[in-house]
This record gives sequence, structure tokens and C-alpha cells, in this order.
Amino acid sequence: MSIHVRPFREADAAAVSVIQFESFKSYLKDRMELKEPRPAEYWLENARSSTPDAVTETFVAEDENGRLLGFVTVSISLVRRLGYLVRIGVLPRCAHAGIGSQLFQAADGFWRSRNARKVCTCVSSINPGAYAFYLKHGFHREGILKDHFFPGVDEYQLAFFY
Ligand SMILES: CC(C)(COP(=O)(O)OP(=O)(O)OC[C@H]1O[C@@H](n2cnc3c(N)ncnc32)[C@H](O)[C@@H]1OP(=O)(O)O)[C@@H](O)C(=O)NCCC(=O)NCCS
Repeated sequence: MSIHVRPFREADAAAVSVIQFESFKSYLKDRMELKEPRPAEYWLENARSSTPDAVTETFVAEDENGRLLGFVTVSISLVRRLGYLVRIGVLPRCAHAGIGSQLFQAADGFWRSRNARKVCTCVSSINPGAYAFYLKHGFHREGILKDHFFPGVDEYQLAFFY
């Protein structure tokens, strides 16, 4: 399968919403509050933004037929040179096949091109696949938020420095 990673376009909003819903459900299971993908308008409002102080961008991974299989949303505070990996998701049927890593390369390019000093994100203790993914891409654990989004489920604060 040949995968192409490119910046988000408005026409991607509905497909990205489905990918986020399906991928997050794969580890949240019955903890997932959303019952269906968010309306496409959510992504039109949140996938990209730019102010003098901060930039948010989304990249999508598409196959040779133009079907979207994954996305990553990243941001940076330009003043602090602090990046954030906001969300990443790959359709469960395509997971663990290298697509997330290709998306991470685009994220890395985004942060490097804006001279990021540090990048951070969070991952849930019930999400060992994503935790392994982040460690493989250079993040390390900086802290733990106990019982954070759900009782009995900790959130790991992860980061790396350039
Ligand atoms: C996390 C996620 C984006 C990774 O994307 P992916 O395409 O599956 O990742 P890759 O195939 O590039 O995998 C790279 C590494 O991630 C880790 N990994 C990915 N899926 C894994 C799984 N199911 N179990 C264990 N490790 C896994 C491994 O370290 C893997 O390296 P390896 O191939 O040498 O074993 C994807 O699995 C996903 O969408 N998960 C559900 C949504 C989610 O958890 N988002 C992050 C919320 S914080």
C-alpha cells in the first residue's frame, strides 16, 4: 500500500472525523462519550489555525485511491517554541502498518521548520499501543496525572527536546 501524507483540506473533514471516532474507540471502548463522529464542522474549525503566537496544522495520510486512513493534528506556541501533538489516529484496520510513523514524520517537519525547542503530548495508561508508539518516536515520560479523565485511568505526560 502506498501512503501519501499531505496537509488537511476542507474536503477531508468528514473522513477525519470518522478516523478520530474509530481510532479512539479502539482503546476507549465503552469509556467513549461520543456516540458517533463529530460533525465535519468541528474539523473545519479545529484542524488548522494561525495567529502571530501559535499555529495549528493537521496532516492526513491517504492511500493510492485517495482514501484517508489517518491524521495528526499538531501545534506550536511560537513564543515558547513549544510544540504539542494534539491528536493522532489511524483507522484500526490499518493500524501497526507504519502509517502513524509517516504522520509523525510530517509532524516532526512541522515542529522543526518552526524551530521547536520541546514537544509534548499525553497518553492514557489504558493505551499501551500509543504509549509504545510515542516512546519509539523519542518521547519520554515527564509526569503522571492520576485518575485524570476517568477514575482508575492515569494519564502520562510525555515530551522530547530537539
Ligand atoms: C497510536 C497510533 C496512531 C499509531 O499509529 P500506527 O500506524 O498504528 O503506528 P505504526 O505502525 O507507525 O507503529 C509504530 C510503533 O508504534 C507502536 N505500536 C503501534 N501499534 C501498536 C499496537 N497495537 N501494540 C503495540 N505497539 C504498537 C509500536 O512501537 C510500533 O513499532 P513496531 O512496528 O516496531 O512494533 C494508532 O495505533 C492509533 O490510531 N491508535 C488509536 C488512537 C490513539 O491511541 N491515538 C493516540 C491517543 S494519545
